[in-house]
Amino acid sequence: MKILQFGKTGQVATAVQAAAREGVEVIALSRADCDLENPEGIRAAILAADCDLVLNTAAFTHVDPAEARPDEAFAVNATAPGAMAKACAERGLPFVHLSTDAVFDGLTDHAYVETDEAKPINVYGRSKRAGEQAVLAHPKAVVLRISWVFSRYGRSYVSFMLKLAREREVLKVVADQFGTPTDGEALADFLVSTAPRWAAASADDPVFGLFHFANAGETSRFAFAKAAIDRDPQTKARLEPTTQAAFAEPAPRPPRTPLDTSKLQAVFGFTPEPWRVAVERTADRLV
Ligand SMILES: NC(=O)c1ccc[n+]([C@@H]2O[C@H](COP(=O)([O-])OP(=O)(O)OC[C@H]3O[C@@H](n4cnc5c(N)ncnc54)[C@H](OP(=O)(O)O)[C@@H]3O)[C@@H](O)[C@H]2O)c1
Repeated sequence: MKILQFGKTGQVATAVQAAAREGVEVIALSRADCDLENPEGIRAAILAADCDLVLNTAAFTHVDPAEARPDEAFAVNATAPGAMAKACAERGLPFVHLSTDAVFDGLTDHAYVETDEAKPINVYGRSKRAGEQAVLAHPKAVVLRISWVFSRYGRSYVSFMLKLAREREVLKVVADQFGTPTDGEALADFLVSTAPRWAAASADDPVFGLFHFANAGETSRFAFAKAAIDRDPQTKARLEPTTQAAFAEPAPRPPRTPLDTSKLQAVFGFTPEPWRVAVERTADRLV
């Protein structure tokens, strides 16, 4: 089983390479191997690859800079995955792509299901939504929406908060933004272990389509950070709740984007772990 993966150095890209096991090889392409701003290069890479499935973990993930660089965000987050899906369709290969809770406006009274209307409120969210639409034109495409990803790899919210809490006396953390954290290592395991099933499935199989993937339970940014920081004996910061508005960032953030994972559970028999258990384990491995 060979997976051609776009993205080599990112958080999820690294977790997938670490999760690769006997019988599953991950061929990871870095920006130097294939720049996602070049759709022709993407097509050539897929047509030439010896692989059974293509996975895209690369993206323009800088939410605030995206406001000033929409062309770049759309090239990487929409045009590039569209080109990947098209080349995969040409070869009959399954294509797995990652998206985000940022496709929603955050004005909800329930955890979002896949059929809820996507109404992104910033450039990053709009570019990711355009990517989903382009990818889902391929019948053997999978789009997994994930949110608030953390792991031992790369720079995640958890590793960043642990670092700040060692450096500062007072750490102000947003308390009015709510969502469902996603264990990047559980995601990577799921991707690697499900790859053979996607590779063997026909286009009408329910394993293809749009899914939400996250840990169980909703939380605030504040409680998310606190769960990690409380595990670190060397932390010195006192946590203080603040508001999203106090940060005055260029990109507006959706206030509440919990993801309902019932469809994922029904189709794949996957049971997400409670977010706190996964965050505490990750923090313990990081400190
Ligand atoms: N992290 C989260 O909290 C979160 C939440 C929801 C959804 N997601 C989605 O999950 C996926 C993985 O995110 P992540 O956290 O692993 O992201 P990340 O750590 O920021 O990594 C992004 C990767 O994309 C690569 N990349 C960016 N522009 C590129 C280009 N023009 N050509 C080639 N490669 C390029 C980067 O390469 P360089 O290292 O060379 O820059 C990097 O390896 C993305 O689709 C993201 O939208 C993430």
